[in-house]
Amino acid sequence: MHYCEYARILLEGTNLEDKLIPLKNIEYTENLRPYELPVNPGRTSRLEFNNEQVKFPRNTSFHLEEKRGLALHFFANHELLAIEMMAAALLIYPDTTPEILQMKKGLVRTIQDEQKHLKLYMNRMKDFGIELGDFPLNDFFWRSMDKLKTPTHFHCAMAMIFESANLDFAQFYGKSFLDVEDFETAKIMDIVFQDEISHVALGVHWLNLWRRDIDLWTYFTNHLPGVMTPARSKGIHFDRSSRVRAGFDDAFLDQLEAFRDDFKVTNRKSW
Ligand SMILES: [Fe+2]
Ligand SMILES: [Fe+2]
Repeated sequence: MHYCEYARILLEGTNLEDKLIPLKNIEYTENLRPYELPVNPGRTSRLEFNNEQVKFPRNTSFHLEEKRGLALHFFANHELLAIEMMAAALLIYPDTTPEILQMKKGLVRTIQDEQKHLKLYMNRMKDFGIELGDFPLNDFFWRSMDKLKTPTHFHCAMAMIFESANLDFAQFYGKSFLDVEDFETAKIMDIVFQDEISHVALGVHWLNLWRRDIDLWTYFTNHLPGVMTPARSKGIHFDRSSRVRAGFDDAFLDQLEAFRDDFKVTNRKSW
């Protein structure tokens, strides 16, 4: 099946089975057809967006299974959104160069990881009596999708903001689960963390190629939609070593580490 057909199932399909469809025997031929981004991804009523405020649980409450389950529900939502946004990226950017098609092959491998993460979180949540859709699923990440007009914008937001922040969050919450001796969930966080390094690396790779002689920091900050700030690229504790592994150079990391802003939402205490 052509990669665009898969992408449409992932994005427009309404059931979890659509979001988790195994991606195999994929055809990669150039696609130049325009695709209009839907207002929302396909979702059965149970999985529909709902921005009712639910607070992310404090890790000091993680001795309670229901709080751990709620945290996993938030993480699972992020995985589902990543699958849909990456599928959207496969569809909305035409293959005007062989490079873009090449980039999309990497994106499909990343989607496979996100599907794996979603399944890991859902299985573990089930142990705590929670299923996807038991709590509201917010559309926070999805709302940025229509502002990501080019593959450069997409990687600046997805790899350099959302996934980069998750390098910190996955480690932070991995430790929180260890603190309450939930080794099984901690192990899942480590799997996600290791995969996330390679996902961020993919974005860094393509941006380094596309930026030419502009430095990565300037290129990154110039391609962020107005509502996003580089502060959102960091989690609770800034971990430099995983970012070195993802391919960032020292000049970029010095800028990112030193970056402060007082935008309320980004001076956050939790994911
Ligand atoms: Fe993931
Ligand atoms: Fe990821």
